[in-house]
Amino acid sequence: MTHEFGGPWTQKKLEILQDYLLAYCTALKNKGLTLHYADAFAGTGSIRNYKQKEGEQSLFPFPLEDLKGSVVTALETRPSFHRYHFNDLNQDHVDALEKLKAQHSRKSITVSSADANEFVTRFCRRLGRYDRAVLFVDPYNTELDWSTLDVVAKSGKIDLWLLFPLSVLLRMTPRDGAKIIPEWEPTINRLLGTSQWKQALYKPKPQPPQQDLFDESQENPLLERVNPEELQAWVKGRLEEIFSFVAPPVMLKNRNAPLYSFIFAVSNRDQRAWGLARKIAEGVLKKHA
Ligand SMILES: C[S@@+](CC[C@H](N)C(=O)[O-])C[C@H]1O[C@@H](n2cnc3c(N)ncnc32)[C@H](O)[C@@H]1O
Repeated sequence: MTHEFGGPWTQKKLEILQDYLLAYCTALKNKGLTLHYADAFAGTGSIRNYKQKEGEQSLFPFPLEDLKGSVVTALETRPSFHRYHFNDLNQDHVDALEKLKAQHSRKSITVSSADANEFVTRFCRRLGRYDRAVLFVDPYNTELDWSTLDVVAKSGKIDLWLLFPLSVLLRMTPRDGAKIIPEWEPTINRLLGTSQWKQALYKPKPQPPQQDLFDESQENPLLERVNPEELQAWVKGRLEEIFSFVAPPVMLKNRNAPLYSFIFAVSNRDQRAWGLARKIAEGVLKKHA
């Protein structure tokens, strides 16, 4: 089954993931560790990708080609992972994942259909002393709770590639602070793991010089949201509070509009381990800069 979504940014994200998986398995093979690949939003294994025509004005891109999805990318990595864990909430996608599992009957593959937060939490709980994992978290939207990232960070065994939904967050946090929709606040709190985001993301709008001593706007300055780069930097900072290392995020865009932040984070507390992961990730990110 082909899964239709994405655009040029999809290919970039998958190429970065592919290069990281290859370097990770190469560096950790023969170390007496069990290497796991876990995909919380696994899809179907293949993607009908979309691309804008050169000079195209239409808002609707046309299909470009079928790409290998993240799970096939992981299955084809050599040296191989020892175990694969694929999860998706959509039953048609789960059926496609089961077919892939049957086609790779020699590999140890577990397919599940839980909500991603539940899947990740359960996966982290089961990791033993000699287990190490790469976790790919690739949601469409705001499905991932910050509390789940806390669980990943505490595992100490996971390297995380996270697609953070920057454009959705930008839409939910309008530039003009007076236009924040209260109904969206619980979703933002859950996504960011704090209710303090307004203080961090909204700053007083620069005002023209004061004309009137009794001007009320001096007491209640208009608030303006920070720009997308500052917002992304703030999210990175939040991740740095819980992970040992967080790489500079890659901002994935569509025709200059920010869509997602692709972020790498390491949970291992051992400096040699996260130093190695950092070195690998920095090499991969430099290649795709
Ligand atoms: C962007 S696609 C994943 C693409 C995939 N990583 C790939 O590269 O082929 C997001 C997937 O998440 C699934 N999904 C949506 N909400 C979910 C949730 N709460 N928990 C688990 N999966 C979910 C969708 O069915 C969809 O297959």
